[in-house]
Amino acid sequence: MGMVMQMRLLLLVVVLFIGVVLEFNGVVCSSYTRPPVRKTIFVPHDDDDSNSPEQVHISQVGQDKMRISWITSSPSPAKVEYGPSPSANALSSTGTTSSYRYLLYESGEIHDVVIGPLQPNTVYYYRLGDPPSSKVYQLKTPPSQLPIKFAIAGDLGQTDWTKSTLEHVAKSNYDMLLLPGDLAYADTIQNLWDSYGRLVEPLASQRPWMVTQGNHEVEKIPVVHSSKFTAFNARWRMPFEESASDSNLYYSFDVAGGVHVIMLGSYTDFEAGSSQYQWLQGDLKKVDREKTPWVVVLIHAPWYNSNEAHQGEKESDDMKAAMEDLLYQARVDVVFAGHVHAYERFTRVYKDKADNCGPVHITIGDGGNREGLATNYIDPKPDISLFREASFGHGTLDMFNSSHALWSWHKNDNDEAVLSDSAWLTTLSSNPACKS
Ligand SMILES: *[C@@H]1O[C@H](CO)[C@@H](O)[C@H](O)[C@H]1NC(C)=O
Ligand SMILES: [Fe+2]
Repeated sequence: MGMVMQMRLLLLVVVLFIGVVLEFNGVVCSSYTRPPVRKTIFVPHDDDDSNSPEQVHISQVGQDKMRISWITSSPSPAKVEYGPSPSANALSSTGTTSSYRYLLYESGEIHDVVIGPLQPNTVYYYRLGDPPSSKVYQLKTPPSQLPIKFAIAGDLGQTDWTKSTLEHVAKSNYDMLLLPGDLAYADTIQNLWDSYGRLVEPLASQRPWMVTQGNHEVEKIPVVHSSKFTAFNARWRMPFEESASDSNLYYSFDVAGGVHVIMLGSYTDFEAGSSQYQWLQGDLKKVDREKTPWVVVLIHAPWYNSNEAHQGEKESDDMKAAMEDLLYQARVDVVFAGHVHAYERFTRVYKDKADNCGPVHITIGDGGNREGLATNYIDPKPDISLFREASFGHGTLDMFNSSHALWSWHKNDNDEAVLSDSAWLTTLSSNPACKS
């Protein structure tokens, strides 16, 4: 082999090597460099007292109560002392304790206590257990009238990107968080549910976190663990009985005197005749749009999606075929989904066409999990898709009054929350052309 030939071969090897390195780091040489995947972080229990309360989170129950959920490593009373002053001892409530097993894992003691009635838009202080924890926690109840501000983030996981998303959410001055599924990405490793509970506690102990399930909550293993949603149902109990639902996997609630939020279950039965379908039908019928102008729905797998990821899944296509009519007839204003790790906003749609009386569909599955972003799109962009981008971030929904709300998407660009898309939403109940 001649000298020139050898040099060319060497050059080829070097170029190939650089190519492989770039590929491994997920760096794609295009005009915009996508943020790389960040690995899972594990959050340990940070107290010297191993039996002190941990993984505290709260969720709204009815219009004026709050469920406080926390875990201790060994048995301790399910009791909350609370009040409007930092001494947190004016009132008290007791509740229930449960635990679960998953393969060789045994959970801690999971406590659920409902407190209230509480004043709207008010800070309460609370202490956990009996004797009460030395640590005093703080929460703020949602307003009883509009305006209200929601933060919305799906597919959160527990990576450095999640941390960045949570930091931005914490600064957003939100009243309530809505999560359209895929929380911990524990994927059967139950310690990761504990770690997730600790990661979100600083936020979730202060404002209600209302969640529904995604595929990462199923955690069924044939033969060895044949039931679904064991950890999710035990750890993230939502107010389903209060909305006449028979399952923690779908429920609804009213907030701020003018918003009805419906959490649907993409990974349980949704076909016509199923209990979820019948429940949804009855729930929508009960909404009086004179009193409750806004109706918001959350699902996990999006019904509208022009990303290449998660096309053709039955939780998207079959659920849409089964339930889209119900939402359309009821003039639902907006549907939030996750699952696709990217952001996408559609116009008002019904049966794949723009329709002024259909809901706006928004995918907000970009919370920051370890699987990374879904960067490939179907081209050309369909006309009904108004904005799409694969970046981590979160959304906020400022509901100002009975007709106007401002939706904003904030991406975690370089760890700063950069406002990247926003749109005014007007409620369909205020549109005479959409009276049903
Ligand atoms: C509702 O809020 C929007 C945005 O702030 C405002 O333009 C509109 O006038 C308000 N409508 C009513 C009825 O207050
Ligand atoms: Fe998912």
